[in-house]
Amino acid sequence: MANENQYKLKSLLVGTRGVAEYRASIEKYIFKNDKVLEIGCEWGTTSELIYKKCPKLIATDISLKCIERARKMRPTIRFEVLDVFDIRKALSFKQEFNKMYIDVSGLSGYRSLLDVIALTDMYASVFPMEAIVVKSGAVKNFAKRCVAWEG
Ligand SMILES: C[S@@+](CC[C@H](N)C(=O)[O-])C[C@H]1O[C@@H](n2cnc3c(N)ncnc32)[C@H](O)[C@@H]1O
Repeated sequence: MANENQYKLKSLLVGTRGVAEYRASIEKYIFKNDKVLEIGCEWGTTSELIYKKCPKLIATDISLKCIERARKMRPTIRFEVLDVFDIRKALSFKQEFNKMYIDVSGLSGYRSLLDVIALTDMYASVFPMEAIVVKSGAVKNFAKRCVAWEG
C-alpha cells in the first residue's frame, strides 16, 4: 500500500530544452561551494562555464576521445570517463555531489522520459543531490504539464 516512505527524494529536477537553456541555468543553480557532477561533457564547453562558478567539478563522458580532448583544452578541470549507467564508478570518485548536470545523447526525446527519471532518481538516492539539471525537452514539457495537488 502507498505510504510516505516511498517519497523520500527531495532533489529538484530541472528540465531544460536545448544547450542554450542548459547553460543559462548554471547562473541560477550553481554556487561557489557546490560539488558538481557533470555527465555528458563532450570536450567541456559547459564544464568551463560551471567551473568558473564552482571549482569542485568532475566533468565526465563515456567517450575517452572526448575526455582526452577536454583534458588538453582545459587542463585545470578534472575530466573522467564515465558511463552514466555505471553509478558504482561515480561513487568511486568519493565526492558527495550536491548538484548534477546531465546531457547525454539519446535521453532527450519524448520516449526517454521514464529513463531520465529512473536514472536521475538513482543518482539522487546515493548522492545528496539538491538539484539535477537535465538537457531534455521531454522533461521540461512534462514538468510544465504537472502540478502537485495541494487540496
Ligand atoms: C550533446 S553531447 C554533450 C554536449 C555537452 N554537454 C556541452 O554542453 O557541450 C552528448 C554527450 O553524451 C555523451 N554520452 C552518450 N552516451 C553516454 C553515456 N551512456 N554516459 C555518459 N555520456 C554519454 C556523448 O559521448 C556526448 O559527448
